[in-house]
Amino acid sequence: VERCSGITHRLLGFARRMDVQIESIDLNKLVTEVYSFLEKEAFHRNIEVRMELADELPTILSDRGQLQQVFLNILNNAFEAVTDRGLVVIQSREQDGDTVAVSIRDNGIGMSEATKKRLFEPFFTTGKARGTGLGLSITYGIVKRLGGNILVESAEGQGAEFTVLLPRQTAEVAGG
Ligand SMILES: Nc1ncnc2c1ncn2[C@@H]1O[C@H](COP(=O)(O)OP(=O)(O)OP(=O)(O)O)[C@@H](O)[C@H]1O
Ligand SMILES: [Mg+2]
Repeated sequence: VERCSGITHRLLGFARRMDVQIESIDLNKLVTEVYSFLEKEAFHRNIEVRMELADELPTILSDRGQLQQVFLNILNNAFEAVTDRGLVVIQSREQDGDTVAVSIRDNGIGMSEATKKRLFEPFFTTGKARGTGLGLSITYGIVKRLGGNILVESAEGQGAEFTVLLPRQTAEVAGG
């Protein structure tokens, strides 16, 4: 337990220390790029991926590399949750004048109430031998640091939807 705790703290500390590099980002383009990393898997497993991207999405000021990691983690989880021939929908929209939202929805196995309570904890995984359980804890840390938030809606057997809310301006990046 001590060793694991040491590893987590180093990993999370590493993510926390990574310099935030703010630039203007087209989120539609960014999620499309991230999806292209998984396109082959979608093809081979016959997963339908539907892009519902807002036409005139405002650009945001944020950190490109860190956001790529966020959406890769969430998309990976969606791919793990669906069976072959499953459906994943990637949607973007202007939430309000200050906030842009990207939702990733799947029609996979969904989550129990117990899992929903713990899914952002480091090392929490239901992934038998494969998962480390670090994906969402790191994702959550990044989004919070960029001034955003993550909402989760899911029920057992009913799929899941992760919504990442991001400020158009990253005014003050919390140090840590
Ligand atoms: N789209 C989803 N559908 C159903 N369950 C999910 C979904 N996304 C996350 N979860 C649940 O949350 C848990 C934690 O996710 P997290 O990404 O942190 O770890 P992991 O995917 O198990 O491992 P790793 O990301 O290290 O490969 C998962 O094991 C799974 O139980
Ligand atoms: Mg994961």
